Amino acid sequence: MADLFDKILKNMGPIGEHAKESHGYFTFPKLEGEINTHMGFRGTEMLNWSLNNYLGLANHPEVRKADADAAIKYGLALPMGARMMSGNSDNHEALENELSKFVNKEATFLLNFGYQGVLSAIDALVDRRDVIVYDAESHACIIDGVRLHQGKRFVFTHNDMASLEKQLQRATKLVDETGGAIMVITEGVFGMRGDLGALDQIVAMKSKYQFRLFVDDAHGFGTMGKTGAGTGEHFGVQDGIDIYFSTFAKSMAGIGAFISSQKEIITFLQYNMRSQIFAKSLPMPLVVGMRKRLDLIKSMPELKENLWKIVRALQSGLKEYGLEIGPTASPVTPVYLSGSIPEATHMVYDLRENYGIFCSMVTYPVIPKGMIILRLIPTAAHTLEDVQKTLEAFKKVAVKLKDGEYAKHDKIVEGVAQ
Ligand SMILES: Cc1ncc(COP(=O)(O)O)c(C=O)c1O
Repeated sequence: MADLFDKILKNMGPIGEHAKESHGYFTFPKLEGEINTHMGFRGTEMLNWSLNNYLGLANHPEVRKADADAAIKYGLALPMGARMMSGNSDNHEALENELSKFVNKEATFLLNFGYQGVLSAIDALVDRRDVIVYDAESHACIIDGVRLHQGKRFVFTHNDMASLEKQLQRATKLVDETGGAIMVITEGVFGMRGDLGALDQIVAMKSKYQFRLFVDDAHGFGTMGKTGAGTGEHFGVQDGIDIYFSTFAKSMAGIGAFISSQKEIITFLQYNMRSQIFAKSLPMPLVVGMRKRLDLIKSMPELKENLWKIVRALQSGLKEYGLEIGPTASPVTPVYLSGSIPEATHMVYDLRENYGIFCSMVTYPVIPKGMIILRLIPTAAHTLEDVQKTLEAFKKVAVKLKDGEYAKHDKIVEGVAQ
């Protein structure tokens, strides 16, 4: 028999095994100062491309004032209790109505966190006779929601409509026998690669197969579509999305999330989502702060225009310099490189220490061994000078990587962990 803690100490997990060398630098870094495109890191100012503050709202003076005023007026405790018991308020309902109008759905339910919300919504919506058909590259919250499902789940190859159709045929055959229903789940914008879920083609499949479509649009809300209402609006298929989800943690620069659908389905979720029934409701300052952010998104289209100006400059510049950014069609900008984990850490170290550029690094096990993604998140607050500085730096480090300069090291950068 093993001791649980002994077992854990022998296997800290695929990322945790690097904690000793990387904690505080590559993992759990501490950015210093106010949220901005330039922030401190270990006392040095760096140009920051690692925050999902797409519209630059995090530090907008009106947002900061609304958050501060609401905190003074209400405190963080209000309302106490779960929405169903004692945690409802006019502000919660007003934000829900405003979001419904914005994303063109009948009703909305606020969620405390996006991750838990998706998990719990999936859990509530389907029962053991139902079949879930989902995209293979779905976010962890979808995968974990699917893991809770007690019925069958069929995965389709990422954005591959032939694969989706095959799985829909299998699912249809099964539910014809069980009397269950089918729910297809995908994303509006895939957060690692930045490519869009093929929502137009998936919605078109409804003419052939009977299913309901759930879309996680965490990265599309605020950034995609004419008004910023998301990827459904971008494709002109918002009506074909039966359940629309987004988080407040990205364009809204806050915390919390929401889910929108037809009225009766939202009523069902209000009374059946365990993550909301058994948890305290969103604090009032957050709700009031989100109302202010939504107002600004609606009244300041220039935020989205600025964002896309930066996105276009960054993405076309990286491509011109011969860097591979893959099929992104959104602000998410991954730069694909090849190399080992030690090489990746030396390149990121070089970028930070010698070029003053801070971005996130993705390596195995999130992506296949030998691949490195440096993920840049442009925002409305960046400038064209920031883009130029970054392009120059990337050009230089990409050459060094190709020339094997970082491959001289076979260990993660030493002495940086704290
Ligand atoms: C696609 C997607 N869905 C859900 C979430 C979770 O949202 P939250 O941070 O509100 O829990 C995220 C954020 O990381 C995400 O990228």
